[in-house]
Amino acid sequence: MRKPIIAGNWKMNKLSPEAVELAGELKNKAGGIADREIVLCPPFTVLSSVKEVIAGSSIRLGAQNMHWEISGAYTGEVSPTMLKDIGCDYVILGHSERRQYFGETDEMVNKKTKIAFSIGLIPIVCVGETLPQRETGETLAVIEEQIKAGLSGLTEEESKGLVVAYEPVWAIGTGKTATPDQAEEVQRFIRKLLGQMFGKENAQAIRILYGGSINPDNISALMSCENVDGGLVGGASLKAESFLKVIGY
Ligand code: 13P
Repeated sequence: MRKPIIAGNWKMNKLSPEAVELAGELKNKAGGIADREIVLCPPFTVLSSVKEVIAGSSIRLGAQNMHWEISGAYTGEVSPTMLKDIGCDYVILGHSERRQYFGETDEMVNKKTKIAFSIGLIPIVCVGETLPQRETGETLAVIEEQIKAGLSGLTEEESKGLVVAYEPVWAIGTGKTATPDQAEEVQRFIRKLLGQMFGKENAQAIRILYGGSINPDNISALMSCENVDGGLVGGASLKAESFLKVIGY
């Protein structure tokens, strides 16, 4: 059985006092949950303070991005070991906002994914099609390219620890959620691809999350799909009340 993951991607939101308050409320009400993994992905600037708040609970820390080198002359970047050092267990890679606004490519995602495994960070690798791509029937081809290029060269052992997030770009921050059938169709296809790359048995262990306008009202239908193993939540993760409802699905 795959343990579900509910991850909150705070994106570029929250100054320290708000971050500490939100993390504190989540720790109080959900810090003992053991049947699913709860991951908070705040901005870099509050990773440390959120880590301090959630210490001693089952809630885990994740970052939203990182560089693919361990150190060096990369002004303004944050390295994988820096995230590890500060207490992160997870890192979101290849989010569509990184691809769209910062020119991230599958090749960069691939380098980041490999280094993440090599230092013991769990990558949450995001893939997803845009609205025009869906409308022209290219969804599965786009996903196939992102999965094959982004995850090439991982070992079978590494693959078992992988987390993939299917986030249709048209569903992010728009209030338009993919229907459970749409999510399941793509996520089943992703697992099939992963099976071809890493072996069927290993692919069964990989958690595949859905992301895009998740809210307390649509999460349970999404979670009832066979290949939806959790959610990557944006807007609804910014308030304790809505995120706790999503966690409780
Ligand atoms: P929303 O839940 O705000 O649509 O964001 C989804 C997302 O991008 C999570 O990474």
